Amino acid sequence: MAYSAHPSYSGLFLTVEGVDGAGKSSHLDWLADALRAQGKTVVLTREPGGTSVGERLREMLLHEAMDLETETLLMFAARREHLAQVILPALMRGDVVISDRFTDATYAYQGGGRGVSRNKILQLEQWVQGDLQPNLTLLFDLPLAIAAQRLAQGRAQLDKFEQESQVFFENTRAAYLERAADAPNRICIIDSAQSLEATRAQVAHAVLSQLNLNLTAYL
Ligand code: TYD
Repeated sequence: MAYSAHPSYSGLFLTVEGVDGAGKSSHLDWLADALRAQGKTVVLTREPGGTSVGERLREMLLHEAMDLETETLLMFAARREHLAQVILPALMRGDVVISDRFTDATYAYQGGGRGVSRNKILQLEQWVQGDLQPNLTLLFDLPLAIAAQRLAQGRAQLDKFEQESQVFFENTRAAYLERAADAPNRICIIDSAQSLEATRAQVAHAVLSQLNLNLTAYL
């Protein structure tokens, strides 16, 4: 399958982003279930991962130290496999794909956090996905002190990224917010410092205003 031209598909591509501890995971199942209740076929998947090759790359990426450009290349290798095996076939079938992270995470973590040049990431993005972009990206955002607290409460063992410094996460968060400012029609910022219910209501509002799908009955 070639990705250089914009693929024409009838499905919807949603991605969910945020720094570690931002709380996005708490909303993924609800979002998938609410869309299913609306009669949609939903594929819930994640990056890095989502395929057999991708999950093996995830193991390495989350647990082994490596050169920062190797890390970036492997993220895109996993992404290419994910697109070819899972995302594009589902979009062609007309399904809704929800991916727990996608390319904005590379701009934020490898670009903002690690300092890989934006231009190199852009070249890989064009190679791997052409001009395919999510229809909607929900960016869960909150002050880093709260994210760190949630992370400490929720996890027995932290992976390689979760153990990163405060500065790393400040830069990652700033890069996410910069992406949102550059693509305001695609990326909706969700203030996840609020209660679960209030955060979920913002998700429903974003889906309604951007995709015209009303999930408020499931709040
Ligand atoms: P995450 O999505 O937080 O999963 P879990 O909730 O199971 O910990 O973990 C994925 C990690 O990978 C996260 O720390 C961000 C990182 N990551 C990148 O650095 N670059 C990327 O392009 C992607 C997709 C993820």
